[in-house]
Amino acid sequence: MAAVGSAVGLGNVWRFPYICYENGGGAFLIPYFVALFTAGVPLLILEFTVGHWARSSPPEAFKKIGKKWEWVGWWTVLIPFVVAAYYVSVMAWCFSYMLYSLDLRWGANAEQFFFKTFLGMTNSPEIIGGLRVPIVLGLIVVWMCIFVILYKGVKRIGKVVALTVPIPLILLIILTIRGLTLPGAMEGISYYLTPDFSKLANANVWLAAYGQVFFSLSLAQGIMITYASFLKKKSDITNNAIITALADAGTSFLAGFTVFSVIGYLTVSQGFGIDQLSISGPGLTFVTYPTAISLLPFAATFFGMIFYVALLTFGIDSAFSMIEPITSGLHGKWKMSKAKATGIMCIIGFFASLIFATGSGIHWLDIIDHHIASFGLVLIGLVECIVLGWMYKIYKLREHANKTSDVLLGRWWDFLIKFAIPFVLIIILILAIVENITKPYGGYSWYIILLGGVIPVVGIFLLSFVLMKIKGKEEGV
Ligand code: PFF
Repeated sequence: MAAVGSAVGLGNVWRFPYICYENGGGAFLIPYFVALFTAGVPLLILEFTVGHWARSSPPEAFKKIGKKWEWVGWWTVLIPFVVAAYYVSVMAWCFSYMLYSLDLRWGANAEQFFFKTFLGMTNSPEIIGGLRVPIVLGLIVVWMCIFVILYKGVKRIGKVVALTVPIPLILLIILTIRGLTLPGAMEGISYYLTPDFSKLANANVWLAAYGQVFFSLSLAQGIMITYASFLKKKSDITNNAIITALADAGTSFLAGFTVFSVIGYLTVSQGFGIDQLSISGPGLTFVTYPTAISLLPFAATFFGMIFYVALLTFGIDSAFSMIEPITSGLHGKWKMSKAKATGIMCIIGFFASLIFATGSGIHWLDIIDHHIASFGLVLIGLVECIVLGWMYKIYKLREHANKTSDVLLGRWWDFLIKFAIPFVLIIILILAIVENITKPYGGYSWYIILLGGVIPVVGIFLLSFVLMKIKGKEEGV
């Protein structure tokens, strides 16, 4: 349940629909499901197996694979901590919008309201701009929730996810029914699903599919290893992994219907084509959707509120899952109490999030997300495959998984981990690096990319070595 909670999040509701739309609509589902089954599920099984086998946090788990690999574990737990800093800021936006739904505060021009009035967006990342008070308040609320959920340990997580996994799903279903019964809904759906097969020849579409599967399944971030370490000895590993992956993919697919039916309604009621709308991440959730809500003939406030409550409840279990691995790591190595480790990380996280609460926040969010979430994750996924597949006897992990699982893994799984997945990930990385060097992301200047992209990725990598070198509690005495 907690793994499903981590996987299903904002990535399903705002990221999947527009990534799907931009990459061929219905035809994107082909690379998406290929990526899901050739990389997503096998890697999820791998991470569950490692966590269940090592019964410890990622740094200790990799130490068990080989002393010199401890840094890989630290690397995997540091990345989601950085992701959390900006993920929580998007949740802070949702928090404000949940309240703004009460009086449809965005008025007639939701775009102007979002970018100018709410974010106070500056023209470039260099111009920092002031702190936005509503966003800072939202950050305080979300970081406090994360602290309260995590500091008492894993039992409380179990209780929280029993609510935060089903509630948003029910809300999403209500919203989908509302969306599908609006006039124009079918136009939106056919826009979402009509396949454009010519796009399948494009490498970027495949890149987007693998990236989305990694991000959405919370892979390569130490989370699934940490959660699997809490599983009972006899838990079925393969089944758990398949259920998690299908629940995640199913939610994304459903969210596409929810969002695009409303977009269809918006275009029909305003009398213009869908391609004239801004269907990008933040645009979709904080501009297009509010505009559509204001047009609803009745209960606009109600549907606005439940949309943002659904986003918040979807997001919260992903957000705390980003903090749990690093606190488990600190607890494992230095025997720091869970409450202290969580407190320290939430305070650092809050201060790190503040940059995203400034007028330049959305620029930095975009740059850091692109570099950390796509490069960072794919790179770590690759290193995981190499270390676990080549530096350790992968068949031992397979046998461990098979001991407690109904669906048995064959040699094909070893092949995927050792050869197929690394091969695909290397190609993706090379393509992405070439593309990013020839065309700097978002047209930003090189020093901005250096500051927001290269330095965080390399810095985290170096920090993981430092953490490995510092002596742990039982080693130090
Ligand atoms: N899987 C989450 C989502 O789809 O929203 C996002 C996520 C969770 C990303 C955990 C990174 C992470 F470490």
